[in-house]
Amino acid sequence: MKSLRHQLTDIVADAFATQGFKREYGVVEKSNRADLGQFQCNGALAAAKQYKMNPRQLAQQVVDCLQQNSIFSAVSLAGPGFINLTVTDEFLARHLQHISADRRLGSEEVSPALKMIVDYGGANIAKPLHVGHLRAAIIGESLKRLARFLGHNVLGDVHLGDWGLQMGMIISELARRKPELPYFDPDYSGPYPQDAPFTIADLEEIYPTVSERAKNDPAVMEAARQATYQLQQGHRGYHALWQHIFNVSVADLKADYHALNIDFDLWYGESHTQDRLPGLIERLQRDGWAYESQGALVVDVNEPEDTKNLPPLMLVKSDGAVLYGTTDLATIEQRVEDYQPDLMLYVVDKRQSDHFRQVFRGAHKTGIAPKSLKMIHIGFGTMNGKDGKPFKTRAGGVMKLKDLIQMITDKALERMTAADIAKEYDESERQEIARIIGVATLKFADLMNHYTTDYIFDLDRFASFDGRTGPYLLYTAVRIKSILRKAAEQGLEPGNILPPASQVERDVFLKLAEFPNALDLAFENYAPNYLCDYAYTLASLFTTFYHEHHILREEQSERQASWLGLAQVSLAMLEQVLDLLGIETPERM
Ligand code: ARG
Repeated sequence: MKSLRHQLTDIVADAFATQGFKREYGVVEKSNRADLGQFQCNGALAAAKQYKMNPRQLAQQVVDCLQQNSIFSAVSLAGPGFINLTVTDEFLARHLQHISADRRLGSEEVSPALKMIVDYGGANIAKPLHVGHLRAAIIGESLKRLARFLGHNVLGDVHLGDWGLQMGMIISELARRKPELPYFDPDYSGPYPQDAPFTIADLEEIYPTVSERAKNDPAVMEAARQATYQLQQGHRGYHALWQHIFNVSVADLKADYHALNIDFDLWYGESHTQDRLPGLIERLQRDGWAYESQGALVVDVNEPEDTKNLPPLMLVKSDGAVLYGTTDLATIEQRVEDYQPDLMLYVVDKRQSDHFRQVFRGAHKTGIAPKSLKMIHIGFGTMNGKDGKPFKTRAGGVMKLKDLIQMITDKALERMTAADIAKEYDESERQEIARIIGVATLKFADLMNHYTTDYIFDLDRFASFDGRTGPYLLYTAVRIKSILRKAAEQGLEPGNILPPASQVERDVFLKLAEFPNALDLAFENYAPNYLCDYAYTLASLFTTFYHEHHILREEQSERQASWLGLAQVSLAMLEQVLDLLGIETPERM
């Protein structure tokens, strides 16, 4: 259905037209002066320029016309020609009634829908995930859900780091530890057996060990380089091992992401491009884009208007290995072939911004990406520890995702116990509620600031049941569920929405009608923090409303039924927005 803002825009545009002006001047926005009106239209100022008229006079004509319309309780002119609008409570109530019956909660589906790919997650196979990967997953998941809700065709791709030096490190270390395995034979032609000769726990130990050794011993590093090169050249035994490393790691990653309510449509990675790399490199050379420089093969990506020199994009290193940028280019080629996307979002640490500038330019100038394909790097800031440095474990190591999930779950349990929450539920339900609260804690804290902001991981603050936190929002949603449950037990059902009975109730109505603005702002800026603001404001308004109007203590009446209706829409809205943030709501807590 049409959003309230667009319905009002239609009406005001009509008024402009009846006065002989262009409809485009009738755009209505939420008012930034609530004391003057709920909505405003500033188009008269621009129209006055075009029609060479006095803006106040022009606006007055439109105001006179709008005053005839019974949906407005007030239409006024302010300043140099602003039109302020307030709709009647009856109109608001009818609009809310429509929202409550609408699957999209009063928001419109986009048209035309874009074909989109959100590249996020970016975990590196066999290397521990770090907090940067966590942020990529959280932000990307939300952007994917938002775009999908709006009606775009979206695929989420995890784009694993599974083709780089770390693979060679593990392979060469396995060769040292388990030389009896058949895979190291250059002529290995055997099968890729089902069972891997190692577990995820082994892998988690092997990588840090060998990377430490490689730091101190050039021979170890050289062996790893060699193995990487051989792997990329198609060494079958190494490839069999690689497949095992991939399978074991992906199974583990899926479980971690799943615990965070994060899902990918595509489990592709850098390795997915291996077949197309030689052809791509050859073509770039043949067409004169790629040239040799100090033994390496590079593509220039500088443009005359650059103020800062952007180094060339390196395709092949002097040792023959391909790089991160090469697989990124090939990935673009593959996505264009398979999906013809209009828009690709890369949700990756902002420290990689030069890399993406190189890749996007490289892809556009060489024709790998059509000019119409928009590629955007959503470069996010760092989650820091209290020392202001990227978040680490107490021992100073990288925090594994599993440990982080455990930590936030423990914190949630601790807070639940302190607040006497869920104490009568059985242990498994308590654990599940704690997991959901923990994930909400982490995600809301991550998403509530603009993604470019660095922030300090302060679990005590994030886990509070008050203020701008995930737990507060869940608590509000669950409280509404409990009101509706208790009402149902007393045989009370939500009924028709009546015009608001107080200012705070009217404010809740208006906030609910504002959902499409939050969606638009979030999508236009690719910034979920607008959804966080919206969810938090709605939850606080509802809480205030509920303090003033004790729904269940009201005597049974149409008013009470209307309030139950309002509670129901508010809950649906909160759950919907939380879902767009990737946050689940428990049934009770
Ligand atoms: N694996 C990379 C890293 O850990 C992130 C991948 C991001 N996506 C991409 N298409 N480059 O930094």
